[in-house]
Amino acid sequence: MIVACSGANELAKKVAKLKNLEVMEVESYKFPDGEVYVRLPKQELPEDVIVMQNFYPNQNDKLVEFILACDSACDYGVKRIKAIFPYFAYARQDKRFKEGEAISIKAIAKILKEFNVKEIITIDVHFHRKEGEFDFFGVKGYNIAATDLLIDYVKRNYCKDFVTVAPDIGQAKALGKAEYFEKERISGDEIIMKKRDIDVEGKNVLVIDDMISTGGTMIEACKLVKKIGAKKIFAACTHGLFLRNSYEKLKEIVDDVIATDTIQSEASKVSVASLIAKYLCNTNNDL
Ligand code: R5P
Repeated sequence: MIVACSGANELAKKVAKLKNLEVMEVESYKFPDGEVYVRLPKQELPEDVIVMQNFYPNQNDKLVEFILACDSACDYGVKRIKAIFPYFAYARQDKRFKEGEAISIKAIAKILKEFNVKEIITIDVHFHRKEGEFDFFGVKGYNIAATDLLIDYVKRNYCKDFVTVAPDIGQAKALGKAEYFEKERISGDEIIMKKRDIDVEGKNVLVIDDMISTGGTMIEACKLVKKIGAKKIFAACTHGLFLRNSYEKLKEIVDDVIATDTIQSEASKVSVASLIAKYLCNTNNDL
């Protein structure tokens, strides 16, 4: 059974259809003062369930909703929860950069353990830039890479020949094989993208990143690729938050903007449902 929290309803239905699983949609709403109400419509639950939630937009509310749903499920006999977080918020603060900072993912891991979460499955999570298992502060984790889906989309819909470019070395390593720029983040808002000796003049280019948040990184990378003389330019990411009209700004620069449906937007042209279903098929479980 998949217990679908409000952020992941649509994706949960797609995964459930592919895996022939039952979906139970969590009833949730916000009280006038902002507190979150949660109810599970069915109370006869198996010992093993999947609970799916997506943490954007309103990550704090979505986190509380997820915790309350898990707590209620545990009260009704659930012993083991597989959590699926297509977009995993709070995953970017995995280190203490300044004394006194909270390591947000560590705090989240502590909460998850408390509510019988035994495994986390996520997509292109920021702190673990490769496909495969990871240890999430004592909870088993698995990161699924969605980049091949984005690459295939461009091949099927636009062209077979293109150069893949990453906006920074971190993303280049995640992709395995890609040209890349040197990115310097001056502040949350300001980015300097430095050209390296990359050969994209007259070529089609796919610029690919794990996420587009404010869009600063992707916009600067696409502008640079254009300046070098690229032919067609495609901007793609797994998680499209598209803050500050960055989708519209990108559309003015590139030929297409492509994202997955980990976060639903106009750019969600590729679904990660098959990747999640495939992972669930390959793992031994009675869900
Ligand atoms: C950073 O390392 C990430 O891979 C993304 O490049 C970054 O989070 C994108 O953020 P923004 O869209 O705000 O530049």
